[in-house]
Amino acid sequence: MYYPLVRKALFRLDPERAHEFTFHQLKRLSRSPFRFLIQQHVATKPVQCMGLSFKNPLGLAAGLDKDGECIEAFDAMGFGFVEVGTVTPKPQPGNDKPRLFRIVEAEGLINRMGFNNLGVDNLVENIKQARFGGILGINIGKNKDTPVEQGKDDYLICMDKVYTHAGYIAVNISSPNTPGLRTLQYGDMLDDLLSAIKIKQQELHQKHGKYVPVAVKIAPDLTAEELIQVADSLVRHNIDGVIATNTTLDRSLVQGLNHCNETGGLSGRPVQSKSTEIIRLLSKELNGKLPIIGVGGIDSLVAAREKMEAGASLIQIYSGFIYHGPKLIKNIVNCL
Ligand SMILES: Cc1cc2nc3c(=O)[nH]c(=O)nc-3n(C[C@H](O)[C@H](O)[C@H](O)COP(=O)(O)O)c2cc1C
Repeated sequence: MYYPLVRKALFRLDPERAHEFTFHQLKRLSRSPFRFLIQQHVATKPVQCMGLSFKNPLGLAAGLDKDGECIEAFDAMGFGFVEVGTVTPKPQPGNDKPRLFRIVEAEGLINRMGFNNLGVDNLVENIKQARFGGILGINIGKNKDTPVEQGKDDYLICMDKVYTHAGYIAVNISSPNTPGLRTLQYGDMLDDLLSAIKIKQQELHQKHGKYVPVAVKIAPDLTAEELIQVADSLVRHNIDGVIATNTTLDRSLVQGLNHCNETGGLSGRPVQSKSTEIIRLLSKELNGKLPIIGVGGIDSLVAAREKMEAGASLIQIYSGFIYHGPKLIKNIVNCL
């Protein structure tokens, strides 16, 4: 009800300042008697996916709460699950600022954050403090200064540390803002990574007596041929799910708009149809062998339905949430 006003004020600030300010307020509110200001009742729409029971199919996408600081606040707003991260083994500052831009006319964002995060140990501490009984996805990546050939080791370090705290683990190999990261999506590099991840998952399963599913997050910029190869690799390695998609490098839908030529990944409405197409192709290729978590430009009930009709079992939002606020969660979940 009041989000249009809040948004008006926040959009006067630099995007990253607005983010920091909002997080500060959310952290305070979620543990105060004023929690009701962010709390929202949404319908229960249970979904079974990757062997887990989700209270509804709409989750918060990775990157908004990188360090797991506001898990309780996002839970209170009615998300069916929350994905935190991307987190890396060591803390890192990310790229120089400014590194986040709004393309307001297109309801898009361009970011080149570069995995700014306080490291996996800090994330685990924050998770331990959170009063949260829902499903937590933990999205992991590699440090910028780790050569891509050794990137695998960073994912394994993170898996070790987050395993017992995660509902599922998301392996991010599709951020455009860490040099070389997307090369992990191809051929032997992908096979090598997935095989190591699967071995680690089996080892941790035995050790902790708990099976934590692993989903791989892919880019929307893969060609149909590349996508078929990725799908084949995911199936061969028995991966539990795929998250499609991350941000795009394509600028064709924002030509001529303010900030359109900033370096980074584009999200929001301009990536909507591209990511739906990827989901559709993936769904055809996977033929139900593993579930798809659909993300990219969901900004309405119609857009959410499109993702599910294309083959997504679960969906996530980031940019749409920035533009439309918590009400979008209710609008989608109650009517899906
Ligand atoms: C500022 C920003 C930071 C992001 N950081 C991450 C990240 O750390 N890890 C990740 O897997 N995806 C990250 N994403 C991608 C989102 O999770 C999502 O896949 C993408 O933005 C498409 O969804 P949307 O159109 O709803 O935003 C980020 C997106 C934005 C806008």
